[in-house]
Amino acid sequence: MLRAGGLVAFPTETVYGLGANAEDPIAVARVFEVKGRPPSHPLIVHLGSADQLDDWAEDVPGAARLLAERFWPGPLTLVLRRGRRVPLEATGGLETVALRVPGHPVALALLSAFGGGVAAPSANRFGSVSPTTASHVRSELGDAVDLVLDGGPCEVGVESTIVDATADVPGVLRPGGVTREDLEAALGFPPAVHSTSRVRVPGQHPSHYAPRARVILVDPDKVVVEAELEQALGHRVGVLLPASFRGTPVNAHAVVQVPASMAGYARGLYGFLRELDQQGCDLIIASLPVETGLGLAIANRLHRAAGPRPAE
Ligand code: TXA
Ligand code: MG
Repeated sequence: MLRAGGLVAFPTETVYGLGANAEDPIAVARVFEVKGRPPSHPLIVHLGSADQLDDWAEDVPGAARLLAERFWPGPLTLVLRRGRRVPLEATGGLETVALRVPGHPVALALLSAFGGGVAAPSANRFGSVSPTTASHVRSELGDAVDLVLDGGPCEVGVESTIVDATADVPGVLRPGGVTREDLEAALGFPPAVHSTSRVRVPGQHPSHYAPRARVILVDPDKVVVEAELEQALGHRVGVLLPASFRGTPVNAHAVVQVPASMAGYARGLYGFLRELDQQGCDLIIASLPVETGLGLAIANRLHRAAGPRPAE
């Protein structure tokens, strides 16, 4: 299907991707069309093995090699200087390319059978919540996808960590499945930090990863009071209840208590948001987890889900 220019949705350990042959500009153009994503927003090129790094990137710094060796296959994306093999259509016209070797066995089997690079964004409509099951992909993109490989629910649940590895000191562009602490331990020094509140990466808007319902973030100890207040005002309120909450049932339209472990929370996050949408909530009240480890990626996605929406 990939060789014929088709679109193949496939599982990765983070979220499902919407894949096309990275070297086929027409297939890549279809990815943008199906997602409803502006063509200036670059895609990640997925590879079957770290050995292919130098086929797809140029001038790879030592720190980038170290990170590839340590974290691939895995939830890490490296931004590097674009190799000649990468068409500008896949990079949104940039001279850099984002590369990743995913850790899911089905993704690796697909990539090694195909042999080339697979350009794939998350398999959702532009701006909405990423899919973590095959049925999320089908229900959101329908027949626009030629094939959906079902590899079960994604293990990590939030997207890969994107690291700008073009410089000697790599910098985190998007927090994700590999934590800052993991990166620091591998590098022997902390990665550069880019504020999560500023738009630095092309294709990352303040409102992204957003469910249909509006999202409001409050202090953990105010979640219940706020939820009951908004419910009383006539909203259909969905609550992401902190794991620590113990007490009487909350008076809201729908309640999901989040798992106590950050890994469990990350794995479930997008499914919870979809579920609250499906139950007809028009407002979701949540609080931010502590921003260490995977909590940083969860907080980043919640911030963006709560960000200002384009004109509605
Ligand atoms: O976990 C993931 O990363 C998933 C799975 C499918 O691999 N993919 C994913 O793709 O999240 P996407 O397209 O939804 O997000 C990739 C982000 C884009 O928003 C873009 O900002 C950034 O990667 N990106 C891609 N190429 C870049 C480049 N050359 N420079 C800077 N950022 C880049
Ligand atoms: Mg995405």
